[in-house]
Amino acid sequence: MTMRQSDLSDAAEILRSAQHVVVFTGAGMSAESGIPTFRDDDGFWQRFPVESFATWNGILRTALWRPRALAEFAYEVIHPIANASPNAGHQALENLEHFVKVTVVTQNIDALHQHAGNTIVHEIHGSLFELVSLHGRFRSLLSRGQLQRIANRVAKCRRGPLALARLMLAMRPWLGLGIRGLHRPKLVLFGDAMAEPDWTMATRAVEECDCFLQVGCSGVVLPAAMLPAQAKAAGAITIAIDPQPATADIWLPGTAADILPALLTAVKGDSP
Ligand code: APR
Repeated sequence: MTMRQSDLSDAAEILRSAQHVVVFTGAGMSAESGIPTFRDDDGFWQRFPVESFATWNGILRTALWRPRALAEFAYEVIHPIANASPNAGHQALENLEHFVKVTVVTQNIDALHQHAGNTIVHEIHGSLFELVSLHGRFRSLLSRGQLQRIANRVAKCRRGPLALARLMLAMRPWLGLGIRGLHRPKLVLFGDAMAEPDWTMATRAVEECDCFLQVGCSGVVLPAAMLPAQAKAAGAITIAIDPQPATADIWLPGTAADILPALLTAVKGDSP
């Protein structure tokens, strides 16, 4: 379905007159940065079963019984994110901050909104770059270069003997024993509590906003999937950008890197 120009103009007018916009993003936001989504045809959960790769217990079982499969999964997650850069959609959302107060609430773990320059970003499913203690206390932030080196080492563990031992060594700066004890990436897997204080601040922003713009979210994973309805109930106008039909006051059919720059052009009042 193609986007109607009138819908784009309406959405731009809503953004221009808003006091506080919450931008809620999912994997579709980063698809054009080369990071696969989860539930599209080539998505992660089509290639790697959730029960083996999306819970800590599943990952532990896979590590013990199929370490090369875990190395493959780890590489497929880390490599695209380590080598990604913000796409035109991320840049447009940074630009939006010059016109209205923006709070980004993202399900993504790729830090591309911060890389693009957005200043308020709540990572409600954690981040591949943030290391925490086993109890979730902040330890350090990895650089994209460090993540690239980890991906290159993990790639070598996908074949050959002693895959688990080699994988644990390959992932050490990211997962394992450091000078201050055990640490892990701050990731929210199925069954985990949401990342804090991000989740508390995200729900507070959703209650306060007058415009809720969601980009690239399938809306199937709770509690994050509750946010659009929560924003609506709090009186916000909802806008959705997605190639697939999405529930919102205005649905702009299309991709993040196409629609968001066009939306910003309309917000600025430049001729589209
Ligand atoms: N631009 C915009 N939207 C896109 C694009 C694109 N280029 N490509 C795909 N999409 C849309 C899809 O139509 C879909 O609605 O992005 C959405 C991706 O859905 P999922 O793969 O389910 O990703 P997401 O909604 O972020 O998943 C939520 O599920 O597995 C957990 O923790 C994981 O954070 C993730 C959560």
